[in-house]
This record gives sequence, structure tokens and C-alpha cells, in this order.
Amino acid sequence: MTRTSFVIVVVLVISSFQMMESSPDLANEVKANIQYNAINCRKHSAVITEFGAVGDGKTSNTKAFKEAITKLAPKAADGGVQLIVPPGKWLTGSFNLTSHFTLFIQKDATILASQDESEYPVVAPLPSYGQGRDAAGPTFASLISGTNLTDVVITGNNGTINGQGKYWWGKYRSGGFKNITRPYTLELMFSKDVQISNITIIDSPAWNIHPVYCTNVIVKGVTILAPIDSPNTDGINPDSCTNTLIEDCFVVSGDDCIAVKSGWDQFGIKVGMPTQQLSIRRLTCISPDSAGIALGSEMSGGIKDVRMEDITLLQTQSAIRIKTAVGRGGYVKDIFARRFTMKTMKYVFWMSGAYNQHPASGYDPKAMPEVTNINYRDMTADNVTQPARLDGFTNDPFTKICMSNINIALAAEPKELLWNCTAISGVSSKVTPKPCSLLPETAPVDCAFPVDKIPVESVVLNKCSA
Ligand SMILES: *[C@@H]1O[C@H](CO)[C@@H](O)[C@H](O)[C@H]1NC(C)=O
Ligand SMILES: *[C@@H]1O[C@H](CO)[C@@H](O)[C@H](O)[C@H]1NC(C)=O
Ligand SMILES: *[C@@H]1O[C@H](CO)[C@@H](O)[C@H](O)[C@H]1NC(C)=O
Ligand SMILES: *[C@@H]1O[C@H](CO)[C@@H](O)[C@H](O)[C@H]1NC(C)=O
Ligand SMILES: *[C@@H]1O[C@H](CO)[C@@H](O)[C@H](O)[C@H]1NC(C)=O
Ligand SMILES: *[C@@H]1O[C@H](CO)[C@@H](O)[C@H](O)[C@H]1NC(C)=O
Ligand SMILES: *[C@@H]1O[C@H](CO)[C@@H](O)[C@H](O)[C@H]1NC(C)=O
Repeated sequence: MTRTSFVIVVVLVISSFQMMESSPDLANEVKANIQYNAINCRKHSAVITEFGAVGDGKTSNTKAFKEAITKLAPKAADGGVQLIVPPGKWLTGSFNLTSHFTLFIQKDATILASQDESEYPVVAPLPSYGQGRDAAGPTFASLISGTNLTDVVITGNNGTINGQGKYWWGKYRSGGFKNITRPYTLELMFSKDVQISNITIIDSPAWNIHPVYCTNVIVKGVTILAPIDSPNTDGINPDSCTNTLIEDCFVVSGDDCIAVKSGWDQFGIKVGMPTQQLSIRRLTCISPDSAGIALGSEMSGGIKDVRMEDITLLQTQSAIRIKTAVGRGGYVKDIFARRFTMKTMKYVFWMSGAYNQHPASGYDPKAMPEVTNINYRDMTADNVTQPARLDGFTNDPFTKICMSNINIALAAEPKELLWNCTAISGVSSKVTPKPCSLLPETAPVDCAFPVDKIPVESVVLNKCSA
């Protein structure tokens, strides 16, 4: 394309967005094409251009998003409202959602996260963490946030949220954030009935999706992409949440694809909210330096009743990693995993009792975590360097570990010690290569997997349109 024709195309594209802004017909046309499945449909619809937003990738739309949500809140209270983000690049800083609200990001629409720190309010750290995760101090608010909400849907036909993380990763790596933590992309706190579906998130500054202190959460059909060397770009972090379903997601990231959490040391113990009733299924994950699914390391409120099934992991450091430390308290128990297909893994199973990252000070060295009733079955892995590395605490072993029907094929140059086990106990059945002596082979068994469903698995989504 010549320079002149490029300029003409750009001008045409920009003027078509400007037309949409001023034309109610175009806003109606946008609305006419919206169809999706959601926990609740909405009586009212609006398009972000109706609030003065400009999709040129340069104009800050923070004010437009804030104003849209403030003005739409009364409609949300009257039968619900959906706010549509049409094709274009919509630059914005942090904004808060409201209840009975759907944010619909259309195909070819990108919400572009501002790299201007002043576009993110500084907020108090989470009560169950006591400080930010990057530094002893407060945190930048997440790009899209919500507190105390009911019935929130963030969806689209695979529209994008681009966290523009490069700025934040660079400054973080060079030690530029001494007393503040980077923003996450999507964080909902103390909320219930949450759906995040059919969107793509790329280049998050740190964690991607963080429901914390929530109940009834569905994350479905979400694609998360971040460079495999980007710092702390965890995919989905259910944290002190009850009744969560994560399904049909694809994650490539620089940190754990899924990290299940429940608060950090004395702060998490005090808040005491577990993550429980969690189902993760049909996840595909690539994370060469981290886990497919991590439980912890922040697990001080407890993690229990987690089901994982039909998981594909490629070039991932470990499949399931339990991370904890002296001082965490809490528990990781009643964990069930089956039907994992894995290729090119450093470890398949990893349990680390000495994941010794602590908040600034004051953890209780007598607060010992309990790790028990961990069940893994029906898995195959290929090109594995070391099948398992399992380290409990000598004065507090990890117990009731069960592994059955697992076939692990080794890499060309595997570790000499294939199963490195310390301070654990349990059983195995039909596992190759032969597990360590702390997991003796029993008569054939299938390790447990629950036959019931968690409540959110029975939610039927409604067909909605705008
Ligand atoms: C997501 O999109 C797919 C089509 O790509 C569709 O079948 C599915 O129903 C959508 N899911 C939701 C929750 O909207
Ligand atoms: C979002 O709400 C929180 C209070 O929960 C507030 O501290 C923050 O400033 C709000 N963010 C924006 C962008 O207004
Ligand atoms: C959320 O609800 C709690 C308890 O009612 C209240 O203390 C807090 O101020 C609320 N926060 C926001 C941001 O609405
Ligand atoms: C959504 O977009 C991402 C990024 O372009 C792509 O990798 C993914 O395959 C898309 N998903 C669907 C269901 O089209
Ligand atoms: C962080 O430290 C800088 C430099 O010491 C200071 O200017 C700033 O006010 C501090 N910010 C917070 C939120 O404490
Ligand atoms: C096996 O894994 C190594 C990295 O550990 C990788 O370099 C190699 O390509 C993999 N081989 C196959 C056949 O996938
Ligand atoms: C086994 O694991 C322990 C604890 O992590 C470690 O100290 C030791 O070096 C490992 N041994 C081998 C042979 O890899």
C-alpha cells in the first residue's frame, strides 16, 4: 500500500467511527448484531460511543467508561443493562462496573489499557494479603474492577482486552515499583453471579482474571495470551471464592495458567475465606516456567474441593503444583484431577513445602498448612524430565496422596532420581515409571473423583440479544 492510500484508509476508518458516534442509526445497527449466552439477559442496551468515546487507540476514554456506568446504573437496577464496545481501539484507564450489568466487547473491538499510571487509582491492598503482591504497600486498581456486585457479565464474540503490559513489565523488572503493585486486568471483589466468557485478554501487566471473595463464578471460552517470559502474568486466579467453574479456556503465559489462592500468611488466616467448590475443565495451557494449575502459594484461608478434568498441557513446567510454606496455616485438601494429556514437561507432579515468600513481616512460624487427600488419576505425559518432586514438611507430612492409571514417558535425558519424595504418604496403582517407596503400589484402585456436580455446573445460560 502506498503512503497516500494508507492515509486515506486511516481517514476513512476514523471518520466511520466518528459517524457512529453521532449517528443513532449506527448505534442501533451495532445493537442489532449482538447475540450471546449469559446467566441473565438485559432489558436496556447502550453503545460506548453514546458517552463520547473515540475508538482511535489514542484518545483516553476513561471518562466515557466511568460516565457510561454511572448513567446506566439506574437502568441496570431496572431490568439490567448491556454496554457494547464496538469495533475500534478504545484506550482507557481503570473503571468500576455495576450490578445487573453486561460489558459486551464485539469482535474486532479492543479495550486498550492505558500505560499512564495516573489513570489507575491507588487502592488499599486486599485484606487477606495485607500488602500488594509486588511490594509492601498499596496497589494500582485493576483495569476493570468491581466490588460488592451482583450479576455481572463480561463477554463478547471474542473481543479483546489488551493490557499493554510491556510498560509495566519493564518498570517492574528494573525495580521501578518500590512500594506499589501493578494493576491486574480484571478483578471482581465480594461479588456474586459473575460470568466472564468469549473474550481474549492479551499482555496483562500482571494477573489476568482475579475473582476474589466471590461466589457463583463462570469463566468460559476465554483466551489469555502473554509472552512466556512476562512477569507474574497468571491466567485465572480464583481467590477465596466459592462455587467457580472454569471451562474451555486457552492460556499461554509467563506464570501459572490457573493459580488457586486464598490469602497470604497471617492476613489470609485472619480473613479465613477458603476457595472451595472449584471445577476446572477443558483447559489448554502452555507455560514453560510455571504450572498448568497451581494450588497456592497463598492458601492461608484454605483450598478444598477442587476438581480438574480434561486438561491439555504443552511445554509446561509442571502439571499440578501445590505450593505452601511454614507460616501459611490453612489447608489444601480434597483435590481431584483426572484425564490430563501432557507433552514436554519438566515435572508432572510437584508439591513444594518450602515456597518461602512472605509478606513484609509478622508471620507465625507455628502456622503449619495441612495438605491431604490429593487424588490424581487417568493421565498420560510424554517427554518428561522428572515425573515427580514431592516435598512435605518433616514435622507435618503431606498425607493421603493417591495416584492411579498414570503413564509417564521420559525425555531423552531424564533426571537420575525420577521420583524425589520427602515427608509424604499415600498409595499408587498402575503408575509408570514406578513411584517412590512413600507411594507404595496397592491392589488396583481408582483414586477418587466426585460423582456429584458443584452447583454452578448446573447453571443454564440464556440466549440474549441487544
Ligand atoms: C461463545 O462463542 C461460541 C461460538 O464461538 C458459542 O457457541 C458459545 O455459546 C459462546 N459462549 C457464550 C457463553 O457466550
Ligand atoms: C472503584 O471503586 C473503588 C472503591 O471500591 C475506588 O477506590 C476506586 O477509586 C474506583 N475506581 C475508579 C476508577 O473510580
Ligand atoms: C462493600 O460492602 C461492605 C460491607 O457492606 C462495605 O463495608 C464496603 O464499604 C463496600 N465497598 C464498596 C466499594 O462498595
Ligand atoms: C479468539 O481470538 C484469539 C486471539 O486472536 C484466538 O487465538 C482464538 O482462537 C479466538 N477464539 C475463537 C473461539 O475464535
Ligand atoms: C512510594 O514511594 C515514592 C518514592 O519514595 C513516594 O513518592 C510515593 O508517595 C510512595 N507512594 C505510596 C503510595 O506510598
Ligand atoms: C522434549 O523436550 C525438550 C525440552 O525439555 C525439547 O527440547 C524437545 O524438543 C522435546 N522433544 C519432543 C519430541 O517434543
Ligand atoms: C530431592 O529433593 C530435595 C528436596 O527438594 C532436594 O534437596 C534434593 O536435592 C533432591 N534430590 C535429587 C537427587 O534430585
